Amino acid sequence: MKNILITGGAGFIGSHVVRQFVNQYTDYQIINLDKLTYAGNLANLTDVQDAPNYKFVKGDITDAAFIDGLFQEFDFSGVVHLAAESHVDRSISDPMAFVITNVIGTVNLLNAARQAWKGSFEGRRFYHVSTDEVYGELHDPTEFFVETTKYDPRSPYSASKASSDHFVRAYHNTYGLPVVISNCSNNYGPNHFPEKLIPLMIHNIQQNKPLPVYGKGENVRDWLFVEDHAKAIDLIFHEGTNGDTYNIGGCNEWQNLTLVKFLCQLMDQKLGRTAGTSEQLITYVTDRAGHDLRYAIDPAKLMNELGWKPSVTFEQGLEKTVDWYLAHQEWLNDVTSGQYQRYYDSMYEGR
Ligand code: NAD
Ligand code: DAU
Repeated sequence: MKNILITGGAGFIGSHVVRQFVNQYTDYQIINLDKLTYAGNLANLTDVQDAPNYKFVKGDITDAAFIDGLFQEFDFSGVVHLAAESHVDRSISDPMAFVITNVIGTVNLLNAARQAWKGSFEGRRFYHVSTDEVYGELHDPTEFFVETTKYDPRSPYSASKASSDHFVRAYHNTYGLPVVISNCSNNYGPNHFPEKLIPLMIHNIQQNKPLPVYGKGENVRDWLFVEDHAKAIDLIFHEGTNGDTYNIGGCNEWQNLTLVKFLCQLMDQKLGRTAGTSEQLITYVTDRAGHDLRYAIDPAKLMNELGWKPSVTFEQGLEKTVDWYLAHQEWLNDVTSGQYQRYYDSMYEGR
């Protein structure tokens, strides 16, 4: 049985990756390492928590001695590294937290893998999950991010992710560490923490609270259903070329304001409200500092070389997402009230 380490598996995307691997690969032992920050929630994984090939370990990737010990204990064949601070607005108010987790945490994992796998890289793989934000922003509507687009990170979050990407490539070039990197566009779907645009809007529409649109709402994002990201990660982990980078995106660009209005229409239908009711909650607020105008991925390499394509349209994915939130009020209430953290704090007290 191969031991595979997934970091950040209690978070939004990580929980979908854990589920994908636990269900697809019964010959793998999946070790989910997560610090359970505000963004980590084991309630995201209740359906797989008792699977015989799944184990949760609470721990911090910034603790080098702990990470080294974990690599000794489990002799990992592969690492899928998702643990990170992931919210751009938080990076603007507290950049150092992003340096510590995203840069130092990643280098700790690279060091541990290099030490543990020394001289024996056959059958090993370090997969680093990154973001399209490392490429900066686009202005020309005919331009797209490709794997060779020059890095131009513009927020503390994207600068920390770009730095971690550089370290991963440096360890490949310098020490021969077998690595693969993917840079993905904006994800949406179940279990998304309601500080990010789509789940925040779903929550606020439901609660009849203002819908805060930054600036004029003209920024563009390229949205991908989270399960399609998890499937792409599975494919790249198993079939991607050593040392390569793959861009992942849904070919699905939306201006923020258009997206929020579309979501309002869908929510009006779902909640039995008169059409146009929820749109009245839209409130224009001060723009995000340094707000990137447009992200758009060209996923041709992943599609042509590995045969990946998204499985749902945006309309289908968004409806699944809204239905999930409406059916998981307890999850949403626990997360917005902080109840889930008090539970885990007491569960792991002293460990
Ligand atoms: P998230 O914030 O929902 O989850 C992050 C997880 O990492 C949480 O479970 C948290 O507890 C854990 N974590 C944080 N610090 C840790 C530490 N020091 N040690 C161990 N665990 C720690 O993030 P997400 O949106 O699921 O993103 C996951 C990864 O995918 C990140 O690397 C992010 O940069 C990348 N990414 C995200 C998106 C997106 O749209 N959300 C798009 C592209 C790439
Ligand atoms: O592109 C990939 C990235 O997508 C990931 O690497 C990040 O981890 C992830 O958080 C996401 O970053 P964004 O900044 O694009 O996502 P967010 O949901 O925070 O914002 C999406 C857009 O909506 C952005 O233009 C800002 C805007 N926005 C966001 C919030 C939270 C609003 O207008 N109002 C809001 O309240």
